Amino acid sequence: MNSQPIARYEGVLKVTGRARYEGEIVPDGMLHAALVEAPVARGELELLDASQAEALAGFATIVTHADAQSLKPSAATALIRDKTIHFHGQPVALVAAATLADAHEVARAVQLSIAARPAVMQMDQALGTAYVPQMVGRFPATTRRGDSAKALIEAELVVRKRYVTAVNNHHPMEPHAVVCWWENGKAIVHTPTQAIFGTRAITAHAFDMPAADVRVLSRFLGGGFGCKGQLWWPWMFWAMLASRKMNRPVRLELSRAQMFTLVGRRQQTEQDIALGYVDGRLTAIEHDVVAQTSMHSEFSDSTAVYTRFLYACANVSTRHRLVRTNEPQPVPMRAPGTAPGTFALESAMDEAAEQLGLDPLELRVRSFADHDQETGRPWSSNSLRECYRFGAERFGWAKRRARSRTKVGRWTIGLGMATTLYPSIRQACRARVALSTDGSLLVQCGTQDMGSGTYTSLGQIAADALGIPMEKVTVELGDTLLPDGPFSGGSQVTASIFPAVEAATSKLRAALASIAVADATSPLSGKPLDDLQFTGEMIQSHSSNAGERLVDVLARAAPDGLDEEGESAATDHKELSTTAMGHGAIFVEIGVDAELGEIRVRRVCGTFAAGRILNPLLARSQYIGGLIGGIGMALHEQTVTDRATGAILGKSFADYLIPVHADIPEFDIAMIEEDDPHLPGGVKGIGMLGTAGIQAAIANAVYDAIGKRVRNLPIRIEDCLR
Ligand code: MOS
Repeated sequence: MNSQPIARYEGVLKVTGRARYEGEIVPDGMLHAALVEAPVARGELELLDASQAEALAGFATIVTHADAQSLKPSAATALIRDKTIHFHGQPVALVAAATLADAHEVARAVQLSIAARPAVMQMDQALGTAYVPQMVGRFPATTRRGDSAKALIEAELVVRKRYVTAVNNHHPMEPHAVVCWWENGKAIVHTPTQAIFGTRAITAHAFDMPAADVRVLSRFLGGGFGCKGQLWWPWMFWAMLASRKMNRPVRLELSRAQMFTLVGRRQQTEQDIALGYVDGRLTAIEHDVVAQTSMHSEFSDSTAVYTRFLYACANVSTRHRLVRTNEPQPVPMRAPGTAPGTFALESAMDEAAEQLGLDPLELRVRSFADHDQETGRPWSSNSLRECYRFGAERFGWAKRRARSRTKVGRWTIGLGMATTLYPSIRQACRARVALSTDGSLLVQCGTQDMGSGTYTSLGQIAADALGIPMEKVTVELGDTLLPDGPFSGGSQVTASIFPAVEAATSKLRAALASIAVADATSPLSGKPLDDLQFTGEMIQSHSSNAGERLVDVLARAAPDGLDEEGESAATDHKELSTTAMGHGAIFVEIGVDAELGEIRVRRVCGTFAAGRILNPLLARSQYIGGLIGGIGMALHEQTVTDRATGAILGKSFADYLIPVHADIPEFDIAMIEEDDPHLPGGVKGIGMLGTAGIQAAIANAVYDAIGKRVRNLPIRIEDCLR
């Protein structure tokens, strides 16, 4: 297959406003919902008095924990069946009314009586309660190989530092929303989710009904970043209960302020790292993480997990611990694990390089792991050294010393670099392709497009396999009536859909080719199947000029067109013979205004190696998007809890800073293609590869510019003032 820089399939729909997002669906008779939030961080709901609310114009219904008793108990329904308040802003009721304004009025009129209790407002108030969770994602929470304690004692140099990362919120431009209704006991749920089938499964379980009776639609998403994975806002179920109660459609959309409290967050981390070196070589790593989780549920990023893999080192110990606070629940967010984890590890590597008198790049090249040292498996492919070499050359790393601390106007220049990595795994997938007699191709898969290009890649894989131009391809996704597809997360979608679409298209090719060669009237009659290729909307013989148009084959033999389904399996972690990761080297140039403390990222060079690139245009956009998220984490984003009340402070984009265009530099993105024979199609994930590494690269560049080592994210102006 060719790697083609095809533009977004849905691009025109989006820029012309014709793409309908699920929250924009307006069924007849729709009611508007609003949430009633608890104004304490911890307590017990004693009384909920809706009498004044019910008397207001437009009031339709109110749904509380009492209504949710009809739902099956599970992790997904725990919070909405509970009278206990676990965090400030936790919804205690949903009201539905005729208009959105009515709904807000009604919500305000609900009287609450809550017995408040002492709460843990922030992690540092309860560090003594830190505990080791069962697992961090699919990895053990603690690991040990070799003897890091002994190796640190014997090391010639030990770098031992603490790094801290802030709470972040995902903030896709499109907030969470649901428009739902019931038809003959079946639920129709329009909601932007990264996992239509996951949402269907959780919903069917909660309402104790067959999955087939729940239809979830998510055809366009205005971003996800992890907060729309599975069902991480159970208040959607209250909207469904309200709809069932009133027998009318109900719409609930979260406000930007609610996006700070109700849909998850990146957890705060405190990471203690110790690196030991003998003779300029890494001999010991200890990486100890303490992170925030909520009172009502548990989540741990795989923060120290990648420290087990990235560098050659015989003695490695890692540990994750969690502290429960009365704050919102963390969930995966934009490179969960690798973003905070590489900030600590790659900052510490930079500190070590300086003390060793080595170039930071040279230290990393020396520390290259030529196999997965944690499992002993070989890499499926690993071009990290090529990324270092190629990126350094493009960026001009060799001239670093001459450029460091020079002045450009008011800016003092600093240069820094860091490594990024992300695992490549796949989920099970089914896909369907259907060729019509007019030569148009329909591609269907029940995955969803977060906005990162799944429509395009789905269509492109099928179009290429059948020799059909993209203009003739229609892609359908985001509907549980379609064949089961993967959730959009973990940078897994393209790698997961590729083998399923390939399976479907190869069946379709085989069907078309068999028809043609068996047909005496076809120019391809009697040709061997391996002589045929699909190109230019034709089946073409390699060995002769003979060929036939696909539409002609269909017209004679399949007047209704032909369709085929393909499927592929998830990565079987027990059966793996290799470890698959994408890698990258990030180089940045920043400027610091020494008077004002202001930091500007001036230039970023990201060189990435992540298998075969199907569409360099989309891949480049993915990398840039990831890098921008990383710049946000490094310099801007921080969610702050008020220590007095437990409320989240400044719940708007006026206070929660995200990078704007003026913060974003030129990006030089380079991709090193890997021919990886161990992965279907040689495809690795790329989505979150660009989101890690840059945080440390920026911190390292700040140090390079002004000699100040900042070990807290986000790096702020006051950190750079002397
Ligand atoms: Mo992601 S943080 O796997 O949506």
